[in-house]
Amino acid sequence: MATTRTFSIIKPDATRRNLTGAVTKMLEEAGLRVVASKRIMMTEEQAKGFYEVHKDRPFYGELVTFMTSGPVVVQVLEGEDAVKRNRDAMGATNPADAAEGTIRKAYAENIEANSVHGSDSEENAATEIAFFFNKDEIVG
Ligand code: CMP
Repeated sequence: MATTRTFSIIKPDATRRNLTGAVTKMLEEAGLRVVASKRIMMTEEQAKGFYEVHKDRPFYGELVTFMTSGPVVVQVLEGEDAVKRNRDAMGATNPADAAEGTIRKAYAENIEANSVHGSDSEENAATEIAFFFNKDEIVG
């Protein structure tokens, strides 16, 4: 299995509770390496653009409000089969459905404030990484 990259966000509900380190530790323990990381306040324009795929969903407006409600930590993660590895570490979108040992089971507050985002395919990972990072900010 090849070493690949994925994109991760530690969301405002997690940064508010000072869980950046705890979440990152779980990602590292899952075999992922943080090769880029920055803490930012997402602008409304960024949040709308990033989640544009969900623009017709009923939760879109609330999601944009939530993602701009506090700092987020955007990260590039590297590892063997990074997209799947990260999604396995995160657990199901709804923490009520998340398996024991996953980040969302441990920390998510609800289906919206679910602590982490992770790309769902290698193609989307490349798009999402480029949305937040220049090439020279990623040091593997
Ligand atoms: P994420 O993996 O970042 O992708 C889209 C986000 O929308 C998701 O995590 C949740 O934060 C949010 N989301 C998904 N489904 C719902 C829902 N049914 N209600 C509210 N928010 C949702």
